[in-house]
Amino acid sequence: MTNPRAHQGLTNRQVVLAKRPVGMVTEDCFGTSEIPVPELGAGEALLEVRYLGIDPTIRGWINERGNYMAGVAIGEVVRSNGVGVVVETNNPDEYPMGRAFMHLTGWQQYCVVQSNPFPPITMVPEGIDLMDVLGVLGHVGITAYVGVLEVAKPQPGEIFCVSAAASSVGSVAGQIAKLQGAHVIGIAGSPEKCEWVVDDLGFDACIDYKRDDVAARLKELAPNGVDVFFDNVGGELLDTVLRRLALRARIVLCGDISTYNLEGPAPALHNTRYLMGKRARMEGFNTLDYWDHYTDAAGQLAAWLAEGKIKARVHELEGIDRAPEALVRLFSGEHLGKLVVRL
Ligand SMILES: NC(=O)c1ccc[n+]([C@@H]2O[C@H](COP(=O)([O-])OP(=O)(O)OC[C@H]3O[C@@H](n4cnc5c(N)ncnc54)[C@H](OP(=O)(O)O)[C@@H]3O)[C@@H](O)[C@H]2O)c1
Repeated sequence: MTNPRAHQGLTNRQVVLAKRPVGMVTEDCFGTSEIPVPELGAGEALLEVRYLGIDPTIRGWINERGNYMAGVAIGEVVRSNGVGVVVETNNPDEYPMGRAFMHLTGWQQYCVVQSNPFPPITMVPEGIDLMDVLGVLGHVGITAYVGVLEVAKPQPGEIFCVSAAASSVGSVAGQIAKLQGAHVIGIAGSPEKCEWVVDDLGFDACIDYKRDDVAARLKELAPNGVDVFFDNVGGELLDTVLRRLALRARIVLCGDISTYNLEGPAPALHNTRYLMGKRARMEGFNTLDYWDHYTDAAGQLAAWLAEGKIKARVHELEGIDRAPEALVRLFSGEHLGKLVVRL
């Protein structure tokens, strides 16, 4: 059957979910398809997608049950953050030609957007490098910003420990904590990553969790305990840090990436009694609840970037067909900086 809205001449290459991953996600879970770009309806605009952000949350979205959002169906375009530029519009007030927008574009070359979509679409302020929009000046940056400044609230001199320290969120969170005067200890998965966060980003120390005894190193580096643990990893690592808390510590649950590829339940925490003993508080957060902070946060992060007070890296792969490879790399840790796919 022909599509009555088929656009003349433009083809949309998409990466779709071919089967559900069992355990660790693999590239054969995905397939490609090509469909004509539809004609725009009233109030709609067409985004040409320029970059896709490869985020850990995609692993939850491709489970049948999803996570905080419904699971992507088999055969559907893989849900993903992206940034695209308006190349056609029936709604120039909301979507002016040539302006860039951050959106759940999905793994595809073109994306049709309606008026006032949900989740909301965000216009990218002019003058920002589009590559940064999916990293330090986008979802990732705002996660670190609100997680540190609204939830963790480190005080000068406090010990701030961050896991997945070389990740996009972790690296920015550690730098913001440093700007607040905290003493920052990272935990990351290779000597290169530890070197980067200490030598380039200014962390005070970094523990290589694949090679070092984390509990012993934390005892050396923070003999009086950790005041703030900004956790991106969960599981055994979280359990280890719970044994090394300072009095009135705060544990900020940003993510638990070590559990995203597990089939069964996440490993049990055995050390929660230390929360009571240390009068500690554990709190999760989701950046979506803070989206009204986006403009202020992006403005502050852009200023810090321009002043050289924070640094960010992007690890770029080219071509939409490489999106599955990028997602697999995210979990093997074979990247340094925000993983993006350039289309
Ligand atoms: N709460 C929110 O609203 C929110 C929003 C965005 C992101 N997040 C969370 O923030 C965390 C970081 O996200 P991101 O986008 O910054 O990630 P990223 O840049 O893609 O980096 C992910 C890193 O996690 C580490 N990792 C992967 N599997 C691991 C495992 N099994 N055990 C320990 N470390 C592992 C790897 O580094 P190593 O080489 O060091 O292992 C990998 O490079 C994730 O947990 C994500 O879900 C939360």
